[in-house]
Amino acid sequence: MRIALGVSGGIAAYKAAELARLLIQRGHEVQAILTDAAQQFITPLTFATLTGRKPITSLFSDGSAESTLASSVEHIGVAQENDLLVVAPATANVLAQFAHGFAGDFLSTMYLAFTGPVVLAPAMNANMWGHPATRSNLEVLRGRGHVIVSPGDGFLACGVIGPGRLAEPVEIADAVDRACKPQVVHDLVGETVLITAGPTQEPIDPVRFLSNRSSGKMGFALAEAAAARGAHVILISGPVDLHTPSGVERVDVKTAEEMRNAVFAHLDGVSIVIKCAAVADFRVASVPQHKIKKTMARFSVELDPTPDILAELGRKKGDRLLIGFAAETENLVQEAKRKLEAKNCDMIVGNLVGQSDTGFESDDNQVILVTRSGTTELPRAPKRVIADQIFNESMKLRLLATAPYAH
Ligand code: C5P
Repeated sequence: MRIALGVSGGIAAYKAAELARLLIQRGHEVQAILTDAAQQFITPLTFATLTGRKPITSLFSDGSAESTLASSVEHIGVAQENDLLVVAPATANVLAQFAHGFAGDFLSTMYLAFTGPVVLAPAMNANMWGHPATRSNLEVLRGRGHVIVSPGDGFLACGVIGPGRLAEPVEIADAVDRACKPQVVHDLVGETVLITAGPTQEPIDPVRFLSNRSSGKMGFALAEAAAARGAHVILISGPVDLHTPSGVERVDVKTAEEMRNAVFAHLDGVSIVIKCAAVADFRVASVPQHKIKKTMARFSVELDPTPDILAELGRKKGDRLLIGFAAETENLVQEAKRKLEAKNCDMIVGNLVGQSDTGFESDDNQVILVTRSGTTELPRAPKRVIADQIFNESMKLRLLATAPYAH
């Protein structure tokens, strides 16, 4: 593959040299593109030596008429010649430029002209990584189908310990290899898949509610994966701050009761249900009409259980494939197995929550898949990758169920 390797200006730029070496070793041709800031951290000569090609360092030429003419269209040429664009490290600035379509230098201009797969490996200070501006830029880029290789936790150059450290070069090279050969299988064509996502909100009074930390990312990744595999997808979502994947029919709800009603109103013709939502287990028994005043020294509320949507789906299962989730802080396998039986599911996806780098709110997840034939532990991966693995396993389950000697 011909790979354009964008390097932007962060201290992690030195690791891009190792990435270039790995990509060459794996048989790719690499064209390095260095932003001005990147050249403050690492020299073009390093990349010229490793890749055997002159790196691109500027949108404009050295001034001669001949080279000015050549460079005026070089970004289009580079965009057309390369099969994949990877940017490592991708600074907050590059993410913002890409998300908003600014084209102020070679890399951002070439990005706009590029139509192939894009892999971005961000690296920055932990606060910059957590800033709402960066988070929403990442959502936009993810929504375009770009692969984000999440940074790891660690000791950052700014002296802070936290998320923001560039992923290891081998991890980025693996993501490039996966993106080079997108394994798009269209095994859900003609099917309708119903997915629930996000938290629910249960009102306490007209302004307050009970909820949980679910971000909805796993459910949205499942919806995106199902749509890519050709399904008609109905995504019933609690309140989340995420873009709807393209081609997906989204139904917004707030409470567990509303989610239950939406699920049963959309169940006709559905062949797979995935209950990924973190539905509140309790709701306030009687919600006052007016805001509760803080003048009370202490007050209590009575809680009633919410309808267990998954359990009801299990009772009315038919031949639909039914997949539930179990988010636990302990005894994961045991709990997942219990829920598989109690709710009459075909599969329970179990994940440990309460850890910082997987589970709720995180871009990555680490899960186990529990079925009646056993338990599979999946390695930590981006939620979009986990989503495809869940569908791969579901397809196997279905084959097993229809196989001539299956019990
Ligand atoms: O019993 P528990 O809430 O831990 O089970 C989690 C699974 O059940 C998830 O798939 C969740 O979407 C579903 N669930 C539900 N209705 C509820 C509570 C949980 O469908 N009221």
